[in-house]
Amino acid sequence: MIHINNLHKHFGDSHVLRGISCDIRPQEVVCVIGPSGSGKSTFLRCMNALETVSEGEVVVNGFAVHDRTTDLNKMRESVGMVFQRFNLFPHKTVLENLMMAPQALQGMSRSQAESLAQTLLEKVGLSDKRDAWPSSLSGGQQQRVAIARALAMNPSIMLFDEPTSALDPELVGDVLEVMKNLASDGMTMVIVTHEMGFAREVADRVIFIDQGVIQEEGTPEQIFTAPQNPRTAAFLSKVL
Ligand SMILES: Nc1ncnc2c1ncn2[C@@H]1O[C@H](COP(=O)(O)OP(=O)(O)O)[C@@H](O)[C@H]1O
Ligand SMILES: [Mg+2]
Repeated sequence: MIHINNLHKHFGDSHVLRGISCDIRPQEVVCVIGPSGSGKSTFLRCMNALETVSEGEVVVNGFAVHDRTTDLNKMRESVGMVFQRFNLFPHKTVLENLMMAPQALQGMSRSQAESLAQTLLEKVGLSDKRDAWPSSLSGGQQQRVAIARALAMNPSIMLFDEPTSALDPELVGDVLEVMKNLASDGMTMVIVTHEMGFAREVADRVIFIDQGVIQEEGTPEQIFTAPQNPRTAAFLSKVL
């Protein structure tokens, strides 16, 4: 579903991704871990063309992201992305936030978009907030709305960049729960996270990135209990 071959990314003089290759299968849940500044966000952002690819191939859902002639808007419609910050439209209600993209980009009627939005709010446990303003919600609730909003486009891949890092600790669990449900529904997911317990429980595969390189990857069991690379072991000893 995602094919990445020898991906390099430069920002000016800094060589941030240094030859990353990885393939992600349909319905696979991949957690990406690693120190701050190691290139995790850049890696994820290259997958939906929020960053240009300096060198190498990135093919997502059949779209060659590295190819400048590819219709990137079409590609992005099939890839949902959730960031650390929720980026909800503050002047729209929760329901309206969910209804906008399907109407504007998929030509859905207002009533279709509304019923889809209601279904998705149920899925993330926020039916009672449909008419609320985003600013009246907790960070965790806003993040669940952001997830529902991404799902409204019916994506086949969901990318998450530290979706719980900005949340108060007591709000993290509800967001992770929504992500767990998505995983068990069979969504293909790539998740940059510092939630090691979550990665261990939900990931099919864990990728450890350091200095712009995949230093090690494997099942959560392999990575968390028997890391082969000293860098992985050193990182885990700090975060576990
Ligand atoms: N738009 C940018 N311009 C210049 N440097 C950037 C940009 N985005 C990220 N970087 C640099 O690339 C490196 C990797 O960043 P990032 O992918 O955000 O790491 P991580 O998500 O693992 O913390 C960092 O040194 C960061 O400063
Ligand atoms: Mg990051």
